[in-house]
Amino acid sequence: MRQKFVAGNWKMNLTLPEAQALTSEIVQMLHDEQLGANAPQVVICPSFPLLPAVGRLLGEGGNIALGAQNCHQKESGAYTGEVSAKLLQSIGCEYVILGHSERRQYFHEDDELLSQKLKATLGAGLRPIFCVGESLETREAEETFDYIAKQLKDGLFHLSNEEFDKVVIAYEPIWAIGTGKTATTQQAQDVHAFIREQVASAYDAEAANNTAILYGGSCNAQNARELFSQPDVDGGLIGGASLKSRDFATIVQSF
Ligand code: G3P
Repeated sequence: MRQKFVAGNWKMNLTLPEAQALTSEIVQMLHDEQLGANAPQVVICPSFPLLPAVGRLLGEGGNIALGAQNCHQKESGAYTGEVSAKLLQSIGCEYVILGHSERRQYFHEDDELLSQKLKATLGAGLRPIFCVGESLETREAEETFDYIAKQLKDGLFHLSNEEFDKVVIAYEPIWAIGTGKTATTQQAQDVHAFIREQVASAYDAEAANNTAILYGGSCNAQNARELFSQPDVDGGLIGGASLKSRDFATIVQSF
């Protein structure tokens, strides 16, 4: 049975008191609501300064994991303002979001840099949540599959079988991020199935079957259940809705 995930990407939101309040609400809700045996792995990804405090509230060995939204490709050194995967691991992170379209766009992260970040993340014992996704122009040009295939090949498929086993993939159509315009379940399923086929070709059927592929892009409490019901959708990478405890808890229970 493939592992399911619901990861909250808080992006550059929340002050420390707000983050502490939200985390406490989420922990309490998920505790009170006694998630079933098929509960997903829940991951919360605050911005860097919030990580230690949120991690403490999640508790040691709790069922909610701590994640970061990025890391530097080097282990340490003179990189002012940057944060290494090794440091993230030392403060309790288990996951790192890599290749988010906002970082590719605003910080010009290309596939070569992302392949270095993947190596650093895996080297620190963390699990990457590796994002791929096309722009509206690419989709309207009917070039989505070619574009996604190139992102996977150039950014991800250089990993060994053993390294790839730790990867979680997130499909985030750029045109659905923060827009309220969610991909249809068929659109999501089609791309997820394609990604799984690409994994099977690059590695093998077992790797393809074991790889969790999450959907992100205006996934919310109202549409999560239908999206997660698709055979190749293994959960969600949630932005705006993860900042609302009730909505996030509802999404976690949408399997
Ligand atoms: O990483 C998840 C994020 O990009 C999706 O954002 O607000 O559309 O759920 P949102």
